[in-house]
Amino acid sequence: MSEFMQGLKRSCMCGEVNESMIGKEVVLMGWVGRRRVLSHLTFLLLRDKTGIVQVVVDENGASDDIIEKEKSIRSEYVVAVRGIVQAREESNINPSMKTGKVEISVAELRILSESETTPFPIEESVNINTELRLKYRYLDLRRPNVASNIVIRHKTAQIVRQFLSDEGFIEIETPMLTKSTPEGARDYLVPSRVHPGNFYALPQSPQLFKQLLMVSGFDRYFQIVKCFRDEDLRADRQPEFTQIDMELSFIDIDDVIDINERLIKKVFKEIKGIDIKTPFERMPYKEAMERFGSDKPDVRFGMELKNITEIVSGSDFKVFQDAIDNGGSVRAINAKGCGSFPRKKIDALVDVAKTYGAKGLAWINVLDEGFKTTISKFFDDDKITEIVKMLDGESGDLILICADKNSIVFDALGALRIDIAKKLDILNDNDFKFLWVTEFPLFEYSEEENRFVAKHHPFTSPMDEDLDIIESSPENARAKAYDMILNGCELGGGSIRIYQQEIQKKMFKALGFSEEDAQERFGFLLEAFKFGAPPHGGLAFGFDRLIMLITGAESIRDVIAFPKVKDASCLLTEAPDVVDKKQLDELAIDIKNIEINEN
Ligand code: AMO
Ligand code: AMP
Repeated sequence: MSEFMQGLKRSCMCGEVNESMIGKEVVLMGWVGRRRVLSHLTFLLLRDKTGIVQVVVDENGASDDIIEKEKSIRSEYVVAVRGIVQAREESNINPSMKTGKVEISVAELRILSESETTPFPIEESVNINTELRLKYRYLDLRRPNVASNIVIRHKTAQIVRQFLSDEGFIEIETPMLTKSTPEGARDYLVPSRVHPGNFYALPQSPQLFKQLLMVSGFDRYFQIVKCFRDEDLRADRQPEFTQIDMELSFIDIDDVIDINERLIKKVFKEIKGIDIKTPFERMPYKEAMERFGSDKPDVRFGMELKNITEIVSGSDFKVFQDAIDNGGSVRAINAKGCGSFPRKKIDALVDVAKTYGAKGLAWINVLDEGFKTTISKFFDDDKITEIVKMLDGESGDLILICADKNSIVFDALGALRIDIAKKLDILNDNDFKFLWVTEFPLFEYSEEENRFVAKHHPFTSPMDEDLDIIESSPENARAKAYDMILNGCELGGGSIRIYQQEIQKKMFKALGFSEEDAQERFGFLLEAFKFGAPPHGGLAFGFDRLIMLITGAESIRDVIAFPKVKDASCLLTEAPDVVDKKQLDELAIDIKNIEINEN
């Protein structure tokens, strides 16, 4: 039978009990964890969000009422305890517990709420199947290690708010029911009842609204805000995620970079006690691709790409020569010390490259004397020596070579770099290597659409020196865009925006947007820009990613209270779900004759 709290008030939290309170009475409330009986003594662990404290009932001294209740208590019962804080005997001190030097001797015990047996034990160290964890997420969140990520998330949000507020930013909410935004992922749509056949789009970011706020004169805006993108999930992607979004007026790239470096520095200092060195290195996109095969390079280790096109050009090896003739390249990385990889392990590396579109990999195993290589038929020892030299190859190294069009070579070798570093276990989670990638291409060619599309979004300003080549050689035009990268993860990105109408027109033209297209999609922003748009720019961090890297979590799922799984469903609420015919009728929606998955 559960009881009431009446008359009892918590005097402190479980994790706060300490030696200075010895001899004093406390009232604690929380969940019962493990229970242990040692002859006449019963020990209960009592847990709340601040920690765990040991409670002891001594059969020799306790009242019948306490003894009877104590015997009926099971794991995860919610109880109230009034008792005296006492020092544990020397031999019973638990150094791994914050409250391990003390315990509570019970004077009053109330069972406030009972619990059925939970589907998994509420403990840090147990390995639980992910689906079960997410179905019972509220119990999963009771586990201190999981809860601690959520607390760190809260603390970080407070620091961000305070910092930006002190810097003159104003937090402004923007609509969730809105029109399609320009980020370019697939939208989540919400049907309108009042306007049958019309749909709102959930925002992929507050991009257009924050630019409008600059036109309004707010000067510095920020928001910690939900964004929605219907894209395939990965460890660092959720369909709804949170951005620290900001926009500033009368600034240039250096101002945005400066504020955000100071923000990140403060967060790392206050949350992790780590001094992050600023300013961060800045690396042009082209250099990042050439050296690391990625626009979000992990610079904690070397294994850089080397271009060996010149060395191998003119050979009879069709694979290399075709790639070169078709405008591609031949590049290589040196997997240091991997020369001893057995064939099976090398084949696994080839498979990694293949998932990134490479047709294969050639390799050179550098031995004490000479080499073992898959390309000996086509290249003499001098050529192989030249390649090995270019890659600083030493005995015991494995040189991996990929020939294809540049995008595939970069993707494949960039991914291999990371894959090998993981296999060699050389990535230290506590080594935080930040950098800015800058000078992104303004456009990228979409094979699907057969035209150039904006790499960031169509309001991204070209670099001043590239203004004249937007139309004549769009592939070479660079943007005033920047991404903050941490250990191979894109933490955030942004750009300086176009605020002059003539440049915007040029941009739309290069993107193949007709005047009508532009009006239809972004008319309200273009209209606003007619009334005095200040020079402006901004940035958005992936807040979940930031917390993932701070906490060392493996996925952003671990730092979101109620995340979704790979197929974008929520195992707890079982959303998405079918709805009543009546609701659909109100929205004038007919479901096509498809098989509906009712879970
Ligand atoms: P962008 O599209 O680069 O820029 O997004 C900014 C940051 O948001 C994070 N992010 C995600 N995190 C989790 N799940 C996702 N599906 C996801 N998608 C993006 C990344 C990314 O760096 N409006 C512009 C910003 C600007 O120009 O000011 C924007 O949204 O960490
Ligand atoms: P194949 O013609 O597929 O038997 O390949 C001959 C050699 O070339 C093998 O060592 C392959 O691993 C290598 N190879 C195949 N495709 C590529 C590629 N795109 N880049 C580098 N090496 C390759």
